[in-house]
Amino acid sequence: MPSDTPTHASPAGPAFDLVTADRPLRAVVVGAGFIGGQWAPELLAHPDTELVGWVDVAEDLARDAAAELGLDGLPVSSSLTAVLDGEEPDFIVNCTVPRAHHDVTVTALKRGVSVLSEKPMSVTLEEARSMVGAADEARRLFAVNQNRRFMPTLVAFRRTVAELGPLGLLTSEFYMPYRGRPFLDELEHPLLQDMAIHLFDAARALSGADPVSVYCESFRPAWTWYPGACSATAIFEMTGGLRYTFTGSWSAPGGATSWTGSWRAAGSHGTARWDGNGEPTAEAVQGHVVRPPAPHADPFPGRSRFAGLAEGLEEFVTGLRSGRAPQGECHDNIRSLAMVTAALESVRTGTRVPILA
Ligand SMILES: NC(=O)c1ccc[n+]([C@@H]2O[C@H](COP(=O)([O-])OP(=O)(O)OC[C@H]3O[C@@H](n4cnc5c(N)ncnc54)[C@H](O)[C@@H]3O)[C@@H](O)[C@H]2O)c1
Repeated sequence: MPSDTPTHASPAGPAFDLVTADRPLRAVVVGAGFIGGQWAPELLAHPDTELVGWVDVAEDLARDAAAELGLDGLPVSSSLTAVLDGEEPDFIVNCTVPRAHHDVTVTALKRGVSVLSEKPMSVTLEEARSMVGAADEARRLFAVNQNRRFMPTLVAFRRTVAELGPLGLLTSEFYMPYRGRPFLDELEHPLLQDMAIHLFDAARALSGADPVSVYCESFRPAWTWYPGACSATAIFEMTGGLRYTFTGSWSAPGGATSWTGSWRAAGSHGTARWDGNGEPTAEAVQGHVVRPPAPHADPFPGRSRFAGLAEGLEEFVTGLRSGRAPQGECHDNIRSLAMVTAALESVRTGTRVPILA
């Protein structure tokens, strides 16, 4: 891990117990939909993890997903508690839909099982606080994998942004014509409640700043195919006086951005831009130099995979073995979720809302 990678380990030591057993870490995937099917191969590929079970409320989905990977003997069930009690995993990977994240995560933590979760941590901040409390009480590691943090070009942009001196403005646009997963149709604000966390968390990772307050509007353009408000614009005040603005739509009528949006950062030494995909560019003001980031290599070359899962798993396993908290450790990640929940509160009240994780 590069030395400038953000870390959130407490100087007093980890708040979770390590797994010291001399065997691979035992893992269960919960949720056999799209992303569960991406996580299972990562658990099979990691030298220090073993896939010991797969749970889905629709048990046949878990059975089919296991069979597709040639894992016909793998324990599968619709009952999370049966698999936790029967297989005694060290951790689960929570790949369920957002509304199930709280119950699945707390059930595992209360049985002494650590949790690596898909984003978002939960639907509400109250749920998230109770999940963080359950992790503290159980002394187990609970982290949310924000896979975009590991994109080599995001890391390059972060390093470029760090060259800009004190930041004043950070902007991101996200435009995607997406006919997504069925659960998105059930959400009142599908962009804010599902996708925006990626961009909001990236804003924190890129700037090193935390959110202070937000004003947000979420709305439904006439042409959208979503029942809910699929478009939003938000202005965040961040620590240090930085303003971060976000505008996005799940129903872009053409002109799509990348999945990580399109970015611009302005600091006292210059401006950096990133299309969310390729290499960032920068322009320094007179009298300053903005150094380009060092060349970077794919840490997992030659393997077709969903971006940012192997890296997230590596940080999580390192955390369980050494106590070094991964980037999405729950006490940190809850601040990204708080950006979402405060934005939703601002939409509801029509006011600027303070952000308190
Ligand atoms: N990081 C990324 O880029 C990325 C990409 C896709 C999805 N996700 C996230 O992953 C999560 C799942 O998304 P998906 O696209 O795989 O959804 P999906 O609908 O394809 O799969 C979800 C699965 O969870 C199962 N499930 C629901 N409640 C459950 C419960 N209580 N216990 C066990 N299983 C349960 C469902 O039956 C379904 O099979 C969401 O939180 C989503 O935001 C992240």
